[in-house]
Amino acid sequence: MTLLVTGGAGFIGSNFVRYLLETSEDRIVNLDLLTYAGNLANLTGCDQDPRYRFVRGDIRDRETLRRAFAEHEIEAVVHFAAESHVDRSVEGPEVFVTTNVLGTEILLEEARAAGVERFLMVSTDEVYGSLGDEGLFTESSPLAPNSPYAASKASADLLCRAFYKTYGFPVLITRCSNNYGAYQFPEKLIPLMIANALEDKPLPVYGDGRNVRDWLYVRDHCSALDAVLRRGRPGEVYNIGGCNEMANLELVRLLVDHLGKSRDLITFVSDRPGHDRRYAIDATKIMSELDWAPSVTFEQGLGATVDWYLQHRSWWEEIRSGEYTAYYEQMYGQGGRHGKDGVNP
Ligand code: NAD
Ligand code: DAU
Repeated sequence: MTLLVTGGAGFIGSNFVRYLLETSEDRIVNLDLLTYAGNLANLTGCDQDPRYRFVRGDIRDRETLRRAFAEHEIEAVVHFAAESHVDRSVEGPEVFVTTNVLGTEILLEEARAAGVERFLMVSTDEVYGSLGDEGLFTESSPLAPNSPYAASKASADLLCRAFYKTYGFPVLITRCSNNYGAYQFPEKLIPLMIANALEDKPLPVYGDGRNVRDWLYVRDHCSALDAVLRRGRPGEVYNIGGCNEMANLELVRLLVDHLGKSRDLITFVSDRPGHDRRYAIDATKIMSELDWAPSVTFEQGLGATVDWYLQHRSWWEEIRSGEYTAYYEQMYGQGGRHGKDGVNP
């Protein structure tokens, strides 16, 4: 099969490209705009494989898409490309709408025109909004997105549904919980805390640190996507999760202890506006219907992740020395949203 992977230079996309090259015979065309989050260093070695091609392009650009679909005779699409960080969507929502909503709509139209046989939309559990202390998100939970990021993903997710209902276009939708692992951009909780701890910098925990996330090792997300791509039923939604809920503060303490650093580095900072309290996924459907299960425990996955960041220091140091410095200052510096005297106490 020849696949178009969008956003394959980002965190999950690059892990997915590696996963497919290792486990399948598929040919992969990776189309990525290389925004601040896209990094060709995430794919080092893949370009040695004759089954892999990289195209720099924007999912909002019809001509580039048309050319890619025609030239490479694409049979299936796995759509990761997106603006993915909630905090950035709070500061500037517009690009979340143009990329995540309009970009997905243009990609759907061009994929349909090209006769693509399977279109996998990588959506997120954030479309469901927030849970209280009890309960789990199922595929039939109502959509109630709370951040501009989540609203843009919910819109894209629903456009995919509409293309299935209206045109019979063979769309598959996955909604996964929080991923962690190698190549995650250090604006996200786990790599940010590892990098800060290694540099003995404060570890900024939002609010009371009791917000709960349901963590899944990125390679297990990849194996779930692979199962849905090959064996999922068009028009269906599949939740993906690791049954691994943890409060942020507990997780940060675990990381600090694992790295042998002082818990005094933990600093409570102003909360994220509209901060979802708890996510937790019911993954019964994908487990029973597609026989998928995570392959590692949280302890194993987190240990492997910390080791990866220890062994790839130059990868994240390079990122953190670039435009990231200005982002970090804007968010966590004096007067920043999550800084001392933050604007959202
Ligand atoms: P990421 O930010 O690391 O990567 C996004 C990639 O998309 C980057 O390589 C970027 O260059 C590319 N991109 C952005 N705009 C583009 C455009 N207009 N055209 C082409 N490429 C563009 O994101 P991630 O964490 O790897 O997430 C990938 C996908 O998975 C996203 O759709 C996200 O919503 C979804 N998701 C993420 C998680 C998670 O925990 N990270 C969980 C569930 C779902
Ligand atoms: O649930 C899936 C989603 O998980 C994906 O759709 C998103 O693309 C992905 O970014 C992630 O969203 P979160 O907002 O849950 O992830 P993030 O790593 O930004 O934050 C995780 C939790 O940690 C959240 O409760 C906010 C908190 N946090 C985050 C940062 C960056 C802190 O306390 N301090 C921080 O500095």
